[in-house]
Amino acid sequence: MTLTDKNSKQNETSNPEKKTAKSKTGFPKLSNKSASQNKEEIAKQEKQKTRPEKTEGKLTFMQSLREIFKKNLPLETSTVIFKEPPSNAEVVETYVIQPSYSKVTVMSLPELGGGKAYFISELKLTPEENLVLKRLSNIIERELEPPKAGVDAITHLDTEAKRLAKEYGLIKRVRKVRKDQVTPDSWPRLLYYLHRDFLGFGHIHVVMNDPMIEDISVSGLGMPVYIWHRKYESMPTNLTFTDENALDNLIVKLTHLSNKHISTAFPILDAMLPGKDRLAATFRREITPKGGSFTIRRFKEEPFSIVDLVELGTIDAQIAAYIWMLVENRMSIAVIGGTGAGKTSTLNAIASLIKPQMKLVTVEEIPEMNVPHENWIQMVSRESYGLGTVKTGEVTLFDLVKASLRHRPDYLVVGEIRGEEAFVLFQALATGHGGLTTLHADSIDYAMKRLTSPPMNVSKVYVPLINVAAMVERIQLPSATGNMTFGRRITSLSEVIDYGEYKTISKWNPINDTFETFFEESEALQRISVRRGRSIKGILDEIRERALLIRDLRQQGIRNNVEIAKFITNYYTSEAEIAIAQEPIARKEPV
Ligand SMILES: Nc1ncnc2c1ncn2[C@@H]1O[C@H](COP(=O)(O)OP(=O)(O)OP(=O)(O)O)[C@@H](O)[C@H]1O
Ligand SMILES: [Mg+2]
Repeated sequence: MTLTDKNSKQNETSNPEKKTAKSKTGFPKLSNKSASQNKEEIAKQEKQKTRPEKTEGKLTFMQSLREIFKKNLPLETSTVIFKEPPSNAEVVETYVIQPSYSKVTVMSLPELGGGKAYFISELKLTPEENLVLKRLSNIIERELEPPKAGVDAITHLDTEAKRLAKEYGLIKRVRKVRKDQVTPDSWPRLLYYLHRDFLGFGHIHVVMNDPMIEDISVSGLGMPVYIWHRKYESMPTNLTFTDENALDNLIVKLTHLSNKHISTAFPILDAMLPGKDRLAATFRREITPKGGSFTIRRFKEEPFSIVDLVELGTIDAQIAAYIWMLVENRMSIAVIGGTGAGKTSTLNAIASLIKPQMKLVTVEEIPEMNVPHENWIQMVSRESYGLGTVKTGEVTLFDLVKASLRHRPDYLVVGEIRGEEAFVLFQALATGHGGLTTLHADSIDYAMKRLTSPPMNVSKVYVPLINVAAMVERIQLPSATGNMTFGRRITSLSEVIDYGEYKTISKWNPINDTFETFFEESEALQRISVRRGRSIKGILDEIRERALLIRDLRQQGIRNNVEIAKFITNYYTSEAEIAIAQEPIARKEPV
């Protein structure tokens, strides 16, 4: 009797309950038979078990493998799932991303309670094309050399892919080709996928090419990729990463494209992709147990201008003119708001209003600012190169703000203040520099509290050096404007009189989506009128005049920052001409 026999015998005699308990757990039930008999039985059961499964349409992994080889189909490792829309889904909007190759459809799904979802559809390849694509991709991965100097990546990939496809006999000019070959007609279709995977962003390529997308986020394995759509807000897509390697490889690829590094040792990444899209990623399951994750904030090729903000309803022309007047007179503004509220975009639009001849220094962690000024120094902080606690080579925002003052800027723009750099910024404001910044906070009160607490530690006495706080919010619109149900609004503009004392200069009215302004109350305008030796009425008239100019620009469709800068320069020139023309009359008056 073998040991196993003995054990099984013991089991059955000494502890009959255990036997039944075990069988309940789903393990094969042991009987009075010997071990070898048991083995046979189990094998028999296994055999029988596989058969009914097949008829039910569910196959084991090995069976699927056999099926695949039997049918001679390409071996599909499904790294992602692209779900088809359910038949009861209603199309909300369809638009083409790349003619003949890709499009997206926004659908309303009953299973989401009428909520919307984003369906990516790309040209479908035949099984033969799929097989050739897979083989060719493997060959390219192995054999493609980097392009020679002067040859662009697209041309290089096109010519080399064609050469390799011919060399390996994957494309044949005959009507009837083998299953692992295609005719030249398939070439453009294969090329789409080669471009997508080797030069583009692979499975997220379509989303990355959709101008309506603000950001893309992957929260881990087995969950749909989410996007933030400019028109329909947050939506799940029909794309889900199911393979850990595919997701990790994409994260590594994005990291390399950003010239950065991500690894088990350094699993957190904050970087910028070549197209200036912002990338935040985590690697594998090191700190995100559901698998690697990433969020890409799309970069807007053309930043929002002040005219765009009026067009979008974020501000009105009067408010734009007021801000312009402040910025011309080196007043400082802090844009306050929550995550993704539009702080940086608003900051950029405001900074673009700074007199084109002024000197500007911007200080940021990630280079997001994009202003039309020629005399502009853009500074970006740098992470440490060292391992451990020694921060070799690190250049912080604090270092940069300090360094920026030596450049004697007219305006210092700090992308976002969070730490001790705030203290230096306020010192710069105290010494007569103009300053613009953003601050993450849900209200002006909270913003001021943050400013005066660690780690920013700005003294309460310094707080009014910020002349105006602009609160930007992403809000539900009272009545759907066009197709938009939400928008971004400067919900309030407040002048900072003292710590805890603010004067409301404009207020957004949520009932009719309009702005109320109280410029007559403005202390900043009072100060400007004194500084410029003009009456407050004259200043208010000028704001009205500038508002008309902004309305004109909007009507003429002039929205680009560079164009607007020209108009601003022109405005000052003609203003100066008028002043000179009026000067002798003004001098004559006292006589
Ligand atoms: N006024 C606006 N109208 C419509 N969309 C806007 C507006 N301002 C910004 N956006 C869009 O909102 C998104 C977030 O903008 P932005 O980066 O300026 O926000 P943020 O508050 O600085 O975000 P974060 O908290 O990440 O720094 C961007 O995709 C941008 O294009
Ligand atoms: Mg920002």
